[in-house]
Order: sequence, then C-alpha cells, then structure tokens
Amino acid sequence: MLAGLTPALIDRGYWVTVIARDATRLAALGHGMAPNPPSITPLALDYHDGNKLHKWVEHVQLMQGPLDLVVAWVHEPRDEVLRIVGEEVLAYRHDAWRLIDVRGIQSRLESPKDILPETCQYQRVQLGYVQIPEGYRWLTHTEIVEGVLQTVDDPKTPVTTVGLTTLPVPSELC
Ligand SMILES: NC(=O)c1ccc[n+]([C@@H]2O[C@H](COP(=O)([O-])OP(=O)(O)OC[C@H]3O[C@@H](n4cnc5c(N)ncnc54)[C@H](OP(=O)(O)O)[C@@H]3O)[C@@H](O)[C@H]2O)c1
Repeated sequence: MLAGLTPALIDRGYWVTVIARDATRLAALGHGMAPNPPSITPLALDYHDGNKLHKWVEHVQLMQGPLDLVVAWVHEPRDEVLRIVGEEVLAYRHDAWRLIDVRGIQSRLESPKDILPETCQYQRVQLGYVQIPEGYRWLTHTEIVEGVLQTVDDPKTPVTTVGLTTLPVPSELC
C-alpha cells in the first residue's frame, strides 16, 4: 500500500523504518534503490503485538536516534498501536515530532490526540474513493502515496482528503 512512500521519503532525506509482518516482502523494499544499501530499516513484526512493538520502536531509536515522523496506516484496534508508538517516541525525544494517521473511509473519525503525547503534531490523511463512469473505485496506491506525501510536505495542514469522502459510502466499496 505505502511501499511507494519509502523511496519518496528517502529522496527527502529520511532514514525510513518500515514495519510489516512479511520479512521477504520487507527485504525486497530496498531493491534497486539508491543509495546502496538504501536508508531503510525493515522491522518484521505484527504491530498488534504490543510487547514487540514497544521493544522494536525503542531499539530503532537507540540505534538510529529518535523518530521525527511516523506514518501510520493501521488496522483496528489502532489506538493501542498509536499509544505505544507515542509513548516510545516521548521516551526518546521531548521536542515536537509528527504523526501522519492514514484513515480508510470506514474508519471512525475521532482523533486519537488524547492518547498521544503533547509533543505529537497530529495530521490525518482521510482516504475516500473515486467516481468513474462505471460507478466507483478505490484510490490507487499512487493516489494514496501522493496524498500522504502532500501531508509530509505540508506540516501545517491538519487534514488532507484524498478522493471523495461523502457518505454514504457506495455499497460496492463496502
Ligand atoms: N480508500 C481507498 O481507496 C482504499 C484503497 C485500497 C485499500 N483500501 C483499504 O485499506 C485497507 C488496507 O489495504 P490492504 O488490505 O491492501 O493492505 P493491508 O493488508 O492492510 O497491508 C498494508 C501494509 O500493512 C502491513 N500490515 C498489515 N497488518 C499488519 C500488522 N498487523 N502488523 C504489521 N504490518 C501489518 C502489510 O504487510 P504484511 O502483510 O507483511 O504485514 C502491508 O505492508 C483495506 O481495508 C482496504 O479495503 C482503501
């Protein structure tokens, strides 16, 4: 989904840590990318395993320094995942950092700000759908990545909407 974000963030000078469960797909992420080896740390873990998430977010910060940008597109239950990330970042940095929270159209709209530290600058990317002559379609990976990058490049915009988000959601997308 967000694989295309990694090279774009590296181009912007970020060292990118990527979490996913499938180690093989994670390892393939940097193939063909410059610099060689690319600035990627793959973390093969289930983000719903709170103990492992705590441990590895801490480990990455000990090795590479505190995180300054977190892009999260997390399946429910999501609050605990965001809370753990917030707690671990706060343990290693006391100045401002950013969380970009990517939400699907079905996702509830409340902000998780109350579970995040005050130093977290929270931004949301709200994903929708696209109307086409035949009906509706999901956003493509490229459209989603472009929406996230727009948010990365504009720290002051609290919410970026990609596509149409008016409800009711077309039944063929549910
Ligand atoms: N609004 C739109 O236009 C639009 C477009 C496309 C999709 N969607 C919706 O977006 C949602 C996500 O899409 P998807 O199902 O294709 O992707 P997905 O299964 O959520 O996977 C996305 C990424 O997250 C990782 N991931 C998923 N669960 C994880 C976990 N528990 N721990 C660590 N990493 C995890 C996956 O890698 P691993 O599998 O290796 O862990 C993958 O890299 C779906 O509900 C889909 O309906 C919406």
